[in-house]
Amino acid sequence: MSNEFVVRSLDEVRFWSRIMKEHSLFLRLGFRCEDTQLINEANHFYSVFEAIESKANAYDAGTDPQTIQRFNIEVHTAACHIWAFKRKVLGLILQCRLPGQTNFPLLVDHVSREANYFRNRLEQLNAGQLDPLPDAIINENVFFLRIMADHAKFIGHLLDPSERKLVDQAKQFSDEFDTLLFQAQDIESMRPQSQTVPLLDQFLDQNRVSVKSLRDFKKTARDLIEACRIKSIIHPLLADHVFREAERFLFIIDMFERTLTGTTAKNVQIHH
Ligand SMILES: [Fe+2]
Ligand SMILES: [Fe+2]
Repeated sequence: MSNEFVVRSLDEVRFWSRIMKEHSLFLRLGFRCEDTQLINEANHFYSVFEAIESKANAYDAGTDPQTIQRFNIEVHTAACHIWAFKRKVLGLILQCRLPGQTNFPLLVDHVSREANYFRNRLEQLNAGQLDPLPDAIINENVFFLRIMADHAKFIGHLLDPSERKLVDQAKQFSDEFDTLLFQAQDIESMRPQSQTVPLLDQFLDQNRVSVKSLRDFKKTARDLIEACRIKSIIHPLLADHVFREAERFLFIIDMFERTLTGTTAKNVQIHH
């Protein structure tokens, strides 16, 4: 139990609890007004993650690691509950029991994958068992490339169809990230032989280029939506939300890059 454990735990919880809070809002906005039970559940999760977020902001690097370990367990429970809620909603949508609600099934699946990622990370932190660097690089990229490909699809489908140029651009990003995801899955299936420093380094470089340009596209979209300059049904907070997730991925790629080039040793613990 160390200071690094506290810092890394707080970084994950601060980022993802805000994300979970916003998912609750997005889900709620998509429900029909007669779905009062679902609306109440979504509002409940909003308050739960809002409270977790402020608690995480009140702790700092000097907080007792045991306090953070207990806090991680509490957050893990909340992440499990919101995951179950999202999967329940997905089931209702796929069984056509909420006709007219406006959350895409892929979006609900997507936010449940993010909840699952969050709870796995909390488990790993508390167990002190983070993936070795070469595995972490592949696992994180497979996870985030799919998340980025989904975002491009959501943007493309939530823009007004008359925004033809932006819809085209979103479709191009969707294809680009689908291709990168397939490449990542190829590297994944070739492991451990594919886990050489030059291959992983090139893998990170190539992904970084595309994530940067998607991040810039999201930033532009966010600014245009905030200024009411384009036609869409994208909530400004959703535009900012997907922008922040791209920034997070870039941050993780850069951290991997530094660790990878700083060492050639195998089985180094990930640093992100
Ligand atoms: Fe999200
Ligand atoms: Fe996302």
